[in-house]
Amino acid sequence: MPPNKYYDTEALWRQDLDHFIHPWTDFSTFKEEGSLVIAESEGSYVLDSEGKKYIDGIGGLWCVNIGYANQEMADAIAEQVRRIAYYSTFNHITTPPAAELAAKLAELAPDTLRHIFYGTGGSMANDTAIRIAHYYFNRLGKPNKKKIISRVDGYHGSTYLAMTLTGVEFDHQGFDLAPDLVHYIPAPNPYRRPQNITMDEFCHEKVMDLENKILELGPDNVACFIAEPIMGAGGVIVPPPGYHKKTRDVCSKYDVLYISDEVVTGFGRLGHFFSSKSVFDFTPDIITCAKGISSGYIPLSATILSEAIYDVISVPQTEGGMFTHGFTYSGHPVSCAAGLKNIEIMEREDICGHVRDVGPYLENQLSTLLEHPIVGDVRGSHFMMCIENVADTETKALLPEEAEIGTRIANHCQARGLIVRPIAHLNVLSPPLIMTRSEIDTMVAVLHESIRATQDDLSREGMWKRV
Ligand SMILES: Cc1ncc(COP(=O)(O)O)c(C=O)c1O
Repeated sequence: MPPNKYYDTEALWRQDLDHFIHPWTDFSTFKEEGSLVIAESEGSYVLDSEGKKYIDGIGGLWCVNIGYANQEMADAIAEQVRRIAYYSTFNHITTPPAAELAAKLAELAPDTLRHIFYGTGGSMANDTAIRIAHYYFNRLGKPNKKKIISRVDGYHGSTYLAMTLTGVEFDHQGFDLAPDLVHYIPAPNPYRRPQNITMDEFCHEKVMDLENKILELGPDNVACFIAEPIMGAGGVIVPPPGYHKKTRDVCSKYDVLYISDEVVTGFGRLGHFFSSKSVFDFTPDIITCAKGISSGYIPLSATILSEAIYDVISVPQTEGGMFTHGFTYSGHPVSCAAGLKNIEIMEREDICGHVRDVGPYLENQLSTLLEHPIVGDVRGSHFMMCIENVADTETKALLPEEAEIGTRIANHCQARGLIVRPIAHLNVLSPPLIMTRSEIDTMVAVLHESIRATQDDLSREGMWKRV
């Protein structure tokens, strides 16, 4: 563990408060409390600027898959910076890491998904997927196929278009969306499914939601369906068995492209490099990925296209016509070097195997939290988990919003040296994929204590009564 560097916490806190606009800021508390300064890291741990150590239960933000402060990764990045830190990949120029990583991703991705477009984040990967889906249908002489079907509680990013794809109502507050482009169908959330229907019936209903929406919009107007294999920020919603395979079939029936957003589920979180095929047994037309592709060391994303799409879009539109899409940092050599090293480490250390081995242990240990009367559901898969907190586990009624249940639990955890993510009434866990059984035990013990402490607070404040 690196030594405490004795940062000037007070000065950093002030500079941050005065000048840094954070993503997803609650200004009502930010202006009083400011930010926790995270300054150092190792393995599954981070340290704040005062030297206090935390188990990082969220892997940064679902992304530090190989763990923190990996020396080999640091060396690979430094080495690439020394060789060539940047060159444009416009106009038929490449760099060794960009070319090698594209070939490696093509090898790892399922079936004919072999053509890679690079970006620097998940939102950009999804924007790219949509632009290309539209371009593809334009090239096929089907310019009306423009509408996109997404899902309530799906999260796809925060650029203008990616936020329009996002179906989390809370995230739309006060901002605008691209009008008329995106249409939402309900989330396949088994915990909130109507009583007295089987999982199979529920699955059928959710698949029909997609088919009915395509028919309502008119198949000739629908370009694509975008879905996360397991919804992440929308509440770690694991769909009923067969859902993805069946929605894939519906897409194929109506010539609608299936975009699988693997920004979280990719790169080992579910025990495989890509989960669409390996876990859910279907092949999308496009896979988008980011986060774990470089374990968050350097920003990188990829939009991976099927051969069929590539064949259509790789023909000049007119004599001299170009494919006019791209970013200054598409195929950034340092990002790609980090991506290559990340895959090398994951393969050599069999990190996917570790997740397949230890993931069920994490699921089991977390399920012991169900003994607490405010824990309604513990769900997820492998290293992608969530706790749903409720007022009453029978009725599944929620606590009042002002209880800020997710944040309270997260604060109790933080005081005890564990970082978990609050999302409304949920607490999300997405640890580094190298986390050991004993670290999991510590994490779960802290969660037990923190949930008990939260229940005591709520009772004392009259916001909740033990039933
Ligand atoms: C499933 C999914 N897609 C896309 C994104 C957007 O990625 P980024 O924040 O890198 O733009 C996220 C971010 O959390 C995500 O969870």
